[in-house]
Amino acid sequence: MYEGQFPGPELRVQEGDVLSVELTNDLQEETTIHWHGVPVPNPVDGVPNVTQEPIASGETFTYTFRAEPAGTYFYHSHVGLQLDRGLLGPLIVEEREPHVEYDREYVVVVDDYLPGEPELPSGGGRGGGGGMMGDVRPPYEGLLLNGRLPADPPTFGVAEGERVRLRFVNAGSATVFGVRIAGHEMTVTHADGRPVEPVDVDSFVFGAGERYDVVIETTNPGTWAVQADALDGNEPPARAVVEYESAGGGSPQRPSSASNRLQYGDLRAISSLDGVSGDPDRTFDLTLSRGRGQSYTWTIDGQAYPDADPLQVRPDEHVRIRMTNQSPVVHPMHLHGHFFQVGNAIKDTVIVPGHRGQVTIDFHADNPGRWLFHCHNLYHLDAGMARVVKYV
Ligand code: C2O
Ligand code: CU
Repeated sequence: MYEGQFPGPELRVQEGDVLSVELTNDLQEETTIHWHGVPVPNPVDGVPNVTQEPIASGETFTYTFRAEPAGTYFYHSHVGLQLDRGLLGPLIVEEREPHVEYDREYVVVVDDYLPGEPELPSGGGRGGGGGMMGDVRPPYEGLLLNGRLPADPPTFGVAEGERVRLRFVNAGSATVFGVRIAGHEMTVTHADGRPVEPVDVDSFVFGAGERYDVVIETTNPGTWAVQADALDGNEPPARAVVEYESAGGGSPQRPSSASNRLQYGDLRAISSLDGVSGDPDRTFDLTLSRGRGQSYTWTIDGQAYPDADPLQVRPDEHVRIRMTNQSPVVHPMHLHGHFFQVGNAIKDTVIVPGHRGQVTIDFHADNPGRWLFHCHNLYHLDAGMARVVKYV
């Protein structure tokens, strides 16, 4: 835990503020902090043995960077499986001038809950299973919303006639969540912190590391569930309760018209990403798949990190990465240090669907250093599904 809290304390700053966080490692093992989604300078990106030496037990390290652009982010350990032991917390960088109006907001961190020591599925016993095997998900004891199990959900108080902003963070380690709010439509306003043209949906799906901000209009008094289901597990959904002040009886739930789930193709960034128009200067074609060897590995183009070649780019290039998923399971792929364009959206994490799903991302190589590009399923990352993007 950070500061004895789970999730860790909310860090909230204004866009452009200099954020300085001193981390004292009271664990018996090494650690780091990564500022997921924020294009920080390379030395404070928190990737052990890539951007810094891991912080030894008893040591202190200070991360200092300018918090920009505004957005919904989170911070987490980037060592081993510590993220799945609860080393995570929300980081909110507020707009100086919000482009969406709202009366109040809540941060909603969803997570998969593993009380015990996480373990990587070992090669022995499971090796050689071939394509049949699909994926191995840890034995989660439940799904959490702001650190609470569904039996004890947090309450989000609202008043009738408000616009309420909800900042959803998928801080899970191996879970794709489907999110809905009973009795209310959601207007998606930001994807991975970046503003999008508002789009109205009944539900959205997000993978580990993704964030969505939505606004709801509180026009339907009562007590309503916010629900986050594991699409790849069968734990009871994580929940919160939206509770209207002075709620009357609560009207019956609106008959939901044909369900309207957010698709990436619905997302249109409000401003375009610089440096990625026209043809790319460099293209990588990468397959995502299970390793073929005896041991449990996940690979990018047949290589399992750290025994993997860096993806070399030059400063200022427009870089394209085309991914093809040769496995049956989804991979939420995350790029450090940069936003990328995917379709008409600007994001930093994107789901590549299973069974030959293909996704193309474009980014501008405008932040020199060595940056991890990896699957945000922690068990896939730990089993090799990563590359370093290296400026040369
Ligand atoms: Cu949340 Cu390497 O990332
Ligand atoms: Cu993966």
